[in-house]
Amino acid sequence: MEDRMSMVHVRDNTDRPLIVAEIGLWVGDNARHLMGLNLDRLFLIDPYKAYERHSQEEVDEAMGIALPKIASHPNAYKTSFIRMESVEAAKLFADGYFDYIYIDGDHTLAGASEDLEAWWPKVKAGGYFAGHDYSSSVGVMRAVDAFCEERGQAVRTWAPPRTGDGPMHLSDWLIEKAG
Ligand SMILES: C[S@@+](CC[C@H](N)C(=O)[O-])C[C@H]1O[C@@H](n2cnc3c(N)ncnc32)[C@H](O)[C@@H]1O
Repeated sequence: MEDRMSMVHVRDNTDRPLIVAEIGLWVGDNARHLMGLNLDRLFLIDPYKAYERHSQEEVDEAMGIALPKIASHPNAYKTSFIRMESVEAAKLFADGYFDYIYIDGDHTLAGASEDLEAWWPKVKAGGYFAGHDYSSSVGVMRAVDAFCEERGQAVRTWAPPRTGDGPMHLSDWLIEKAG
């Protein structure tokens, strides 16, 4: 899997140890990539509960693959796994705490919109708010577009909007929070 474009952008434009969160882990592939950043702390958040078309058995299996993958990385000691729903987990953190938040959990319009509202205050001024599946999920695209329009906020994307299979590392959206 190639590095996601928001992570490439963050890595290329920062030179300090970063406080990062990923919302939605599945088998931990992107988490492993994030663990390669210059990290202060990384929080990995997923309730691993049945969702959309995935049964509890499937999500249990995904967690069973993700956790050893995370634990075996040299930066595991900088990483915390939080088994909670995104919006509940957001309440654990002070506003302005994170340098980079990556949203990749619930991809429905309602779920993605709730995540954007819950996590936006948690990004520090000058930090990065990003996520996956802008180009590949109508729900995410609509949620991000509405969120940005309400705030007059510019969003960066890397691929023309469309749905279905495509170069998934290009499917990120990214907002730089004004410093
Ligand atoms: C598309 S997968 C994440 C893939 C992962 N980010 C990657 O790129 O390697 C979506 C994940 O979101 C999780 N999820 C679903 N609803 C969630 C919620 N409300 N809060 C946090 N995570 C959620 C699912 O359990 C699943 O593991």
